[in-house]
Amino acid sequence: MEFIDVIKSRKSIRSFINKEIDQDKLEYICNCARLAPSWMNKQCWHFIVIKNSEKINAIAKASIINRWLKKVPVIIVACADPLSSGKKNGIDYSNVDVAIAFEHMILASTDIGLGTCWIGGFDHDKVKKILEIPPRIKIIAMTPLGYPMNKENIIEKSKKIIIRNTKRKSLREIIHNDIW
Ligand SMILES: Cc1cc2nc3c(=O)[nH]c(=O)nc-3n(C[C@H](O)[C@H](O)[C@H](O)COP(=O)(O)O)c2cc1C
Repeated sequence: MEFIDVIKSRKSIRSFINKEIDQDKLEYICNCARLAPSWMNKQCWHFIVIKNSEKINAIAKASIINRWLKKVPVIIVACADPLSSGKKNGIDYSNVDVAIAFEHMILASTDIGLGTCWIGGFDHDKVKKILEIPPRIKIIAMTPLGYPMNKENIIEKSKKIIIRNTKRKSLREIIHNDIW
């Protein structure tokens, strides 16, 4: 896809068809994350690729607003090791590093026809326990991964209308020229 088409066609996908994802596709999107920039090139990120349906179900239960995750084929959890990044001016760059790498993964997935959705609404402690994540490691976000359901079903549509506004601010609202 042209770069602009990848950007424009990425949207949060919450319904997936029942089709397995080839290992080479998983490796491709993980490699795209690996190539992201990071604080002093420390690469503090770790990604947990979850295909086990019991674990997926347990993760879905760790989120009140994202129970729909129980039906997804794969979940990828993006984690940061804060000791492998840095802090400056009150910014913890481990969050930034992982967010950049994760968005690489998200856009790479879009490019090869896979659907994703950034997920932040879940109980981190519960998910850390389910996945046996060491105490010092932070979860930054997760995404489901799979082939999108072609037509938006009624549940998807109503979810969007009720809680998820996808309208963007205009350039005029967010771009400042020369000064704030
Ligand atoms: C950091 C972050 C956390 C999010 N958490 C959730 C979530 O918990 N559940 C969900 O369904 N969508 C979640 N989203 C998706 C947003 O709702 C979505 O990106 C936004 O409404 C714009 O829609 P679009 O992604 O389809 O363009 C999250 C997005 C981001 C960037």
